[in-house]
Amino acid sequence: MHYFFSISMVLVYFSQKVQGYVHMCWYVNWAEKRHLKPFSPDLIDYDLCSHILYSAALIDPNTLTVGFMQQNISENLEKILNSKSKYKKLKIILVIGTYDTKSYGFNSVTNPKNTKQIEIFSENIIKFLRKFNFDGVLLDYEFPNMLNRGSPPHTKQGFSILVKIMKEKFKQESLKTKNSELLLMAAMAGRVDWIDKFYENEKIFNHLDYLLLLTFDLKSSREKKTRITSALFPLTNEEGIQSTFNIASTVAKYITNGANPNKLVIGIPAYGRSFELENPNRTKAGSPALGPAMPGNITQEDGVLSYFEICDKIGKSGSKKFWNQNNLGPFLVYDKKYWVGYEDLDSIYEKMLFIKANNLSGAFLWSIDLDDYDGKHCSQGSYPLLRAIKAELTSQDQLKHIETQLNTASKKYHFSIYYLSVFLFINSF
Ligand SMILES: *[C@@H]1O[C@H](CO)[C@@H](O)[C@H](O)[C@H]1NC(C)=O
Ligand SMILES: *[C@@H]1O[C@H](CO)[C@@H](O)[C@H](O)[C@H]1NC(C)=O
Ligand SMILES: *[C@@H]1O[C@H](CO)[C@@H](O)[C@H](O)[C@H]1NC(C)=O
Ligand SMILES: *[C@@H]1O[C@H](CO)[C@@H](O)[C@H](O)[C@H]1NC(C)=O
Repeated sequence: MHYFFSISMVLVYFSQKVQGYVHMCWYVNWAEKRHLKPFSPDLIDYDLCSHILYSAALIDPNTLTVGFMQQNISENLEKILNSKSKYKKLKIILVIGTYDTKSYGFNSVTNPKNTKQIEIFSENIIKFLRKFNFDGVLLDYEFPNMLNRGSPPHTKQGFSILVKIMKEKFKQESLKTKNSELLLMAAMAGRVDWIDKFYENEKIFNHLDYLLLLTFDLKSSREKKTRITSALFPLTNEEGIQSTFNIASTVAKYITNGANPNKLVIGIPAYGRSFELENPNRTKAGSPALGPAMPGNITQEDGVLSYFEICDKIGKSGSKKFWNQNNLGPFLVYDKKYWVGYEDLDSIYEKMLFIKANNLSGAFLWSIDLDDYDGKHCSQGSYPLLRAIKAELTSQDQLKHIETQLNTASKKYHFSIYYLSVFLFINSF
C-alpha cells in the first residue's frame, strides 16, 4: 500500500520541479598552499558548478568587518570572480568562518543585547561583497550555543537575530540599488541531536536562501568503529541516537522542524574517513577499529583520504572494495588492515535520487580539490564526483529518466525505495 502510494508521490515531485537543482562547489583557498598537488583556480571546471563557495573569510571582532584568511590571495580570487564574465549564471559566494576557527568573530555579532553591532556588521558585509563582486555570503558558524567551541548560550538567539537583520539589509540594499539581492546561506549542523540545541529553527529558516546541511562527519572521528561518514540510511543494527547519524534522518529532522525542502542542500564529501582495523578479518561497516588510519600522501591528515587518494589504492594487492546495502555507500579495505568508507559514482547516484524524491534543493561537494579533478587517479575522467552530481541533477528528460531509475531501483533495492519516499512522512521525532 505504502509502496504504491510513495511511488506516485515521487513522480508528482519530479514533474513539479521546474527551477532546476543547485550543484554547489566548495573551494578552500588553503588547498592552494598544499605541498604536493596544490590546487589553484586554473583547475576549476566552472561548468560543473551552479555556485562556487569560496572559503574563507573571518569576522574581525574589533572592526566588525571581514578579512580573508590567507594572505596574497588577490590574484587567485580575481581569477575566480572574473569567471562570471564567461559563466553568466554562476554565483560566487563568500564563506565566513571554518570548522577549525570555531566561533571566532561570530560572538561579536550574535549578542542579542547588542543589535547595533549586528547592524554595523551587516552593512559592512554588504560593502565588502559588492566591492569584490560576490553574489552572497555563507555563514559557516560551527556552532551557535556550543560552549566547548566558544559560543555562550545567548548565541542561539543571537544567530537568529543576525540572520534576520542581514536578510533585511540585503533586501533594502537591493531595492535601493536595483542590484539583484545578495544571497544569504548558512552551513547547518548535520547531527539530529544538535539541531534543536543550536538553532531557533523557525526563526531562521525563512531568512535563509539555502541551508547547507553538513551531512558528513556525523560521528566523532575518534570513534572506534568503522563507518561510512556520509551514510544515506542507518545500518540495521544501529539503535537510538546512533540510528540517526545519517543523511535521511538529518533531512527528516529539518523538514519536521519546518524547513522548506526546496532550501535544503545536501553535503557530499569528496573524501573518506579511514580506520585501522582491530581485526583484519572483520571488515563490515560497524566493525571495531583501533583508530584513524595513516594520512594520505597528498592530503596529509590522519583518518582522511581524498577520493583521488582512495582511487590510488583500489585494485592494488591487499585491497578489496565492498558496497554496504543499508548505508548505500562503498567502502574499501586496503593494505590488508585499513578501511575507508567514502563516496563513489554509485553512492552519488543514490543520493541524487534521494534529493529528487524528496524535492530537495540539490547538493554541494566538500571540497572540489579532493575530487579526482585532473582525472589522473580514478580513470573516470576529470571531476568524476562533481560531474556525477551535475549529471544526475540536470538530466534533460527528467521524468522518463526517473521512471527508469525507479524501476531499476525498486528491483534492486526494494527496501530502500520504500524507505526513500515515505521516510520523511512516517519518521517521527
Ligand atoms: C517541489 O518544489 C517546487 C518548487 O519549490 C514546488 O513548486 C512544488 O510544489 C514542490 N512539490 C511538492 C510535492 O512538494
Ligand atoms: C606576499 O607577496 C609579497 C609580494 O609578492 C611577498 O613579499 C610576501 O612574502 C608574500 N607573503 C606571503 C605570506 O606569502
Ligand atoms: C584471520 O583469518 C585467518 C584465516 O582464517 C586466520 O589465520 C587468522 O588467524 C585470523 N586473524 C585474526 C586476527 O583473527
Ligand atoms: C601517492 O601514493 C600513490 C599510491 O601509492 C602513488 O602512486 C603516488 O605516486 C604517491 N604520490 C606521491 C606524491 O608520493
